[in-house]
Amino acid sequence: MAEMARAETRAASAEDEITQAAIGRVEESAQGRTRDILLSLTRHLHGFIREVEPTEAEWLAAIRFLTETGQKCDERRQEFILLSDTLGATMLIDAINNRKPAGATESSVLGPFYQEGAPVYDNGADLAEGGTGGERVLVSGRVTDIDGGPIEGAELDIWQTAPDAVYAAQDPAGSFNLCGRLRTEADGHYWFHTRKPVSYTIPGDGPVGAMLDAAGRHNWRPAHIHFKLSAAGYETLVTQLFTDDDPYLGTDAVFGVKDSLVVHYESTADGLRLDHDFVMTAAG
Ligand SMILES: [Fe+2]
Repeated sequence: MAEMARAETRAASAEDEITQAAIGRVEESAQGRTRDILLSLTRHLHGFIREVEPTEAEWLAAIRFLTETGQKCDERRQEFILLSDTLGATMLIDAINNRKPAGATESSVLGPFYQEGAPVYDNGADLAEGGTGGERVLVSGRVTDIDGGPIEGAELDIWQTAPDAVYAAQDPAGSFNLCGRLRTEADGHYWFHTRKPVSYTIPGDGPVGAMLDAAGRHNWRPAHIHFKLSAAGYETLVTQLFTDDDPYLGTDAVFGVKDSLVVHYESTADGLRLDHDFVMTAAG
């Protein structure tokens, strides 16, 4: 017994030496922010390995998984963003980088389907191309500062799924259907027509989909409209408005939902209406 205990102690101290050597190598040469990041990464990676004690086969499977994640990426598919999103990492990065005062509109993830250069429209325009089905909705509201003062000329860059649950960015032919840019009027008002967004699945045919399957998770996102607001003198605001009757509101595959971003579509004689005000914070 004593011999076995001594062998275990020797093994543990050899394992500690490996971690210390890896940390020491960073300490010897890395500088500044790079040093901080690499030290923390090394400590946490080694801590993870000590906790999980992967078999060599499991470690190879992990390397294969990351390799396949990279190989799945192309011009229209970013599997690493999906990986970050589905692990909750993207929302944590977003929260850390967008700490806002009470009353300001909360942020949410940009996601992989944003396209720069959407068509510029006047207020009142319809973002849907002819033939787009779905429930027509008038979206309107104001963009203000934290004190409720109107922000004139704020740009709203908008994108969302079509009723077939696909984004224009996923169209191989290239499209800006249900995407557009508008500017607020002098009183901060904006308004446009679109179609009620629908729940959709994030791509499930790659390594991230396999990971969600293995974890017993689904790959649905609750219906939402994406907004990117920018105005001179204000922090850019990237956010989403979520439909309040969506079955996936509580289990968003990418953890993007915040209570303050859940909105109600009102039925009126003229169709659906969504009213929502955005509050931007002054640039720091
Ligand atoms: Fe989305």
